[in-house]
Amino acid sequence: MGFSVNWSWLTALSCLFCMGGEVYCSCTQEKIEMEGGDYTLTKQLDTGSLLIYQCPEGYYPYPALARVCQTNGSWKPLPKTFVPQRCKVVECPDPAVLEYGSVSPLQERYFVDNETTIECYSGYKMRGSSKRVCLPNGKWSGSTPICSHDASNNCADPGIPAGASRYGNIFGIDDKVQYSCNNNLILVGSKERVCQESGQWTGEEPACYYRHTYDTSLEVSEAFGSAIKDSLTTLEPLDDTQEGRTIRISKNGTLDIYIAVDISESIEEKHVNKAIDAIITLISKISSFSVSPNYEIVFFSSEVYEVVNILDFLDKKIELKAIIDELRNFKVGDKNTGTDLTSLFETFVERMSIIELRVGKKVFKEHRHVFILFTDGAYNMGGSPEPTVKKIKSMVYMNHTGEQGTESRDDYLDIYIFAIGTDIFDADLQRLTAGGAKHYFRLMDITKLEKIFDDIIDDTEVQGLCGLHHKYSDKGGREMYPWFAFISVQNEGFPSNCIGSLVTPKFILTAAHCFKFGDLPEHVTVEIDDGQGRVKKVKTFKIHPQYNNNAKVAQGVKEFYDYDVALIQLKEDVKISPNARPICIPCTQETSDALKLVGVSTCEEQENLLLKNHLEKLNFLTKKGNFVAVKEAYAKLGDNRDECIRHALGAPGITTLEPKEAVTDNFLCTGGLAHQRDHIACNGDSGGAVFKEYEHRTIQVALVSWGTKDLCKANDGLVESNADSRDFHINLFKVVPFLKSILGNDTQDEYAPLRFL
Ligand SMILES: *[C@@H]1O[C@H](CO)[C@@H](O)[C@H](O)[C@H]1NC(C)=O
Ligand SMILES: *[C@@H]1O[C@H](CO)[C@@H](O)[C@H](O)[C@H]1NC(C)=O
Ligand SMILES: *[C@@H]1O[C@H](CO)[C@@H](O)[C@H](O)[C@H]1NC(C)=O
Ligand SMILES: *[C@@H]1O[C@H](CO)[C@@H](O)[C@H](O)[C@H]1NC(C)=O
Ligand SMILES: *[C@@H]1O[C@H](CO)[C@@H](O)[C@H](O)[C@H]1NC(C)=O
Repeated sequence: MGFSVNWSWLTALSCLFCMGGEVYCSCTQEKIEMEGGDYTLTKQLDTGSLLIYQCPEGYYPYPALARVCQTNGSWKPLPKTFVPQRCKVVECPDPAVLEYGSVSPLQERYFVDNETTIECYSGYKMRGSSKRVCLPNGKWSGSTPICSHDASNNCADPGIPAGASRYGNIFGIDDKVQYSCNNNLILVGSKERVCQESGQWTGEEPACYYRHTYDTSLEVSEAFGSAIKDSLTTLEPLDDTQEGRTIRISKNGTLDIYIAVDISESIEEKHVNKAIDAIITLISKISSFSVSPNYEIVFFSSEVYEVVNILDFLDKKIELKAIIDELRNFKVGDKNTGTDLTSLFETFVERMSIIELRVGKKVFKEHRHVFILFTDGAYNMGGSPEPTVKKIKSMVYMNHTGEQGTESRDDYLDIYIFAIGTDIFDADLQRLTAGGAKHYFRLMDITKLEKIFDDIIDDTEVQGLCGLHHKYSDKGGREMYPWFAFISVQNEGFPSNCIGSLVTPKFILTAAHCFKFGDLPEHVTVEIDDGQGRVKKVKTFKIHPQYNNNAKVAQGVKEFYDYDVALIQLKEDVKISPNARPICIPCTQETSDALKLVGVSTCEEQENLLLKNHLEKLNFLTKKGNFVAVKEAYAKLGDNRDECIRHALGAPGITTLEPKEAVTDNFLCTGGLAHQRDHIACNGDSGGAVFKEYEHRTIQVALVSWGTKDLCKANDGLVESNADSRDFHINLFKVVPFLKSILGNDTQDEYAPLRFL
């Protein structure tokens, strides 16, 4: 890896005076200067020294980004007499590749600070950025503009990134699109993407890089941060479906993290120390999640220096604090130069094999492996590491054992590569990555790394993300359903119990009918266990202004539950942690992010993703002693809805003959036996979230309101429906104005408003 050292001119010159000493100056400074810029040398003019050119922001060195001093005293690449080394203005790839739209101004080439405006042809809708600026790192600001019809494709048009060509114009399930970069640009990201049933494309959007294009710190922390967060938050077991019923299988997953830093060109200890600081930051950040990974940490050049051995974790011989000490105490000593990626990966394969032997094949199958590698990829020793990386892939993917069935094992392996320096072997390095999203990053130098890692997993940012949760928990479901709140209202007579969901640190969403006329905030208690005292004081509660239980007595509906929603405002914020975290609610920006909707998204797009099937599997919770249990039911939408709501006529107190009098379009309907025997809601379940899992995040789509039959005896938990019992849940997409008026209110300063679309 090339660490740049600011020795430059003076030190290089001083070399001339020590010709007779130990320092042997094999290369000369002839013709290496650069007009408009400067350069640094890693080892003066000695053999193996890396010369790195530097230009002011917005410019890049041309024709060479860097040179290496070879043994015979010549630079590679050789300086050319007729193409003087200079600083050129940064260029961005051609934006005029988009379909069904126009780019203005239309130029042959676009340079730094040039702006473009994108317009879609009439009849086409725009996603992405309509204005873009060419940035100093050789990329366009914002996101790829896409002009598309509102066609009924399974996947949204994935667009064409600047500088690229796309093959494939059909976006149905299993359809493929392929990308290539025009001219001599390097493709970073997925060459091929496949439209999945979930409506998402596999892989990541590709981008076309020049040799001078690099990723900014912010880009790296966002992309790496969200990918590693996925590993950390989805570690817990997955649901396995058997005979249409979900059975929770406890698979004890383990996360093994391998970190390697290339120190081959580093001559100064302070750069190694920078790398160490960065790793310590990363490890501390990871420890803020409730996962305790095993670590292997090495530095390498032509040899591998093992600092932390993963086998010590297996034997429980080492703790997190000890790793940090080991790292701090690490001294490079007399190290070798040269980069041997093959022996690095061989070391990892060896460790993995020993782990597999020790824990057994069955348990090893549940290990997830994350590799984080920092290098320039100029493996000049040991040959191509690709075959060794293939070994790792086949160990984890188990393609050839034939025992994994149809289950994809992609989630079990991530190989991230941070290519650092100017002389990067992109194509070689990209082939070594593994995992879904962006796993390949190009950085200018290692000194920014610590800051990047520090920005990556910003605790408060991650913890506040809506809908994040664990998939398995031994704390009575607390970590699986961290939004769950228990509500009790006691004014006169018996207390009434309801369930609510934490939607922001200050607000609980529940049903309006939990409150009766005359109830005051002091009659209400909310229990949510955030480790700061379970019972929360209530400041106020707000009921939907259109909720009126008696509104339709004359029409034959004794109790009318339309707009059965309320928001409880707490006096103090709930402390956000893995045990207490908000659920995502419709039509917010955060939910669009959770759903990975690209560009500007709408409420309607969210609804289409979440409630698109005519039978949509949903869950809600019930309290069982100190635990919560999860119920499952199918919402009957589209053609199935009329049959479902018809059963409302059998409910006590309903004498009308028109089901829609009682069940307006604002309700979702579940229950019955038609598709499966649904669970039915009990009295205490009122106000609870009716939710859906999407891409490891939980989105609340409705809340439990009322039902036709009381089939539940006291504390009976998971009760199943009979042929004509039905439940009706307030569809949150229909009460967004109410939610927004309170949660999105940005003219107050008592709480941070949610961003609604
Ligand atoms: C130095 O060696 C390289 C290959 O190692 C060769 O391409 C180059 O021509 C040599 N230069 C001189 C001046 O001998
Ligand atoms: C684009 O950038 C180049 C180089 O900075 C500049 O000369 C040119 O005027 C710019 N063009 C536009 C339309 O701004
Ligand atoms: C998971 O771990 C628990 C305790 O650590 C153990 O009782 C259980 O058998 C393990 N389950 C599996 C599937 O390995
Ligand atoms: C092996 O399995 C992995 C993960 O399930 C998959 O991504 C890969 O394409 C498979 N390779 C082959 C050759 O089948
Ligand atoms: C927003 O908050 C302000 C300040 O508390 C209040 O005056 C205003 O009525 C609120 N807006 C809505 C729509 O409730």
